[in-house]
Amino acid sequence: MSHTHEAGWAHASGALRGPSWLREPSDPNELVEQLWSRTATKSDGVLSVGGVALTDLVAEHGSPAYVLDEADFRARAGAFRDAFAGFDVYYAGKAFLCTAVARWVAEEGLHLDVCTGGEMAVAERAGFPMERVGFHGNNKSVAELERAVRLGVGRVIIDSFEEVERLAEVSRAHGTRTAVMVRVTAGVEAHTHEYIATAHEDQKFGFSITSGDALEAVRRVLASDALELRGLHSHIGSQIFDTAGFEVAARRVLALHARVATELGTVMPEMDLGGGFGIAYTTQDDPADPRDLAAGMREIVEHECRALGIELPHLSIEPGRAIVGPAVCTVYSVGTVKPVRLDGGAVRTYVSVDGGMSDNIRTALYDADYSCTLAGRASDAPPVLARVVGKHCEAGDIVVKDEFLPGDVAAGDLLAVPGTGAYCRSMASNYNHALRPPVVAVRDGVARVVVRRETEDDLLATDVGDL
Ligand code: LLP
Repeated sequence: MSHTHEAGWAHASGALRGPSWLREPSDPNELVEQLWSRTATKSDGVLSVGGVALTDLVAEHGSPAYVLDEADFRARAGAFRDAFAGFDVYYAGKAFLCTAVARWVAEEGLHLDVCTGGEMAVAERAGFPMERVGFHGNNKSVAELERAVRLGVGRVIIDSFEEVERLAEVSRAHGTRTAVMVRVTAGVEAHTHEYIATAHEDQKFGFSITSGDALEAVRRVLASDALELRGLHSHIGSQIFDTAGFEVAARRVLALHARVATELGTVMPEMDLGGGFGIAYTTQDDPADPRDLAAGMREIVEHECRALGIELPHLSIEPGRAIVGPAVCTVYSVGTVKPVRLDGGAVRTYVSVDGGMSDNIRTALYDADYSCTLAGRASDAPPVLARVVGKHCEAGDIVVKDEFLPGDVAAGDLLAVPGTGAYCRSMASNYNHALRPPVVAVRDGVARVVVRRETEDDLLATDVGDL
């Protein structure tokens, strides 16, 4: 540590230290490598991704912008494909989907999970092979089901008793049989935020195994001449690090899979274990490598199948966040910097950027942690504990709750937040009539806009007035 440091800010009375996990960096200019996409580097303080300096990118495309590292996306997709060889890997489009990404997913040999007509429209526009698409949702409309059947999606994941009837009717009307999975809840409490844990019982998704609903749903699907049962589906939640949750879920789902064989005489050929693999947003997080995840899952499933005396079903998984999350960073421009004196005399430095909760709702919605770095210059100034906030009319409009930034951070600086690929653009809003930022793909020194910035004309296009 430098002596500016010893004599200075950190030892001033009431200096803020932030949450216990947050380490004060010896050099706040340095990238914490594991949080950034593979091609991210810094030179003289200027952050480059995909060989494109973010200073140049912002000069050309403005800020805020989502910067999508194509090579990183493809590498992560490929890592799942290779680690889970023998499985079908469905990229969960809800994390982030646009036609460019749908094409990359197809080219990397992955399947695609969609959960609305809108996501299906993107797949269709991208020319995604429909037989590699899985269609999810607890309340798919008849129109959506008709579209799925007409397009020939590979499988529909059934989520309610009504849907068994609806899909059968739609399939009959089209003169086809539709391949389906039955979504079950395995009664697992994933250690994640309550709103993103989905396999415990008291929630809207799936059929409960313990109540008997799951078995009943299987029975009804088997009884329908218009539906072809492929297997059971379980997704236990999101941003999960503890593989014990998958293990318990796999065991319970396999037990039901075996019961269907013995009691109903049908050996289902497939099983899906969902997505939810966690990524590193900050140094607190220590995600598993896809190879370790794959080895763990294989072992559990093979072991259970042996114990139950059943054949190994063909397996699939549905990672979203773990593929696109780390491939994107958001670059913002700083507009105002406000030191705020707190009770006790400590000072928190509020750094306001030109976006906020409209481009990243996760901090406000899930109390998510993020990190950030100064992206356009190096600084020797001693670090201060900063809170990065947006420009929206809401005190909860926080992007990064706590991060050490160089103390001379000022208007005009660029800040980049890593790990914003999943559930940021896809959950972005027009709150306060903000224009949603573009997604700029970078690769080999070239930046291409794959989703353009919204314009005021876009905003006003739906406002038909009262004439
Ligand atoms: N499969 C199913 C059936 C899902 O419901 C989901 C996520 C996934 C796969 C992909 O999960 P992933 O691998 O991306 O964690 N908006 C929340 C996350 C909601 C997840 C919804 N379902 C967030 O920002 O954390």
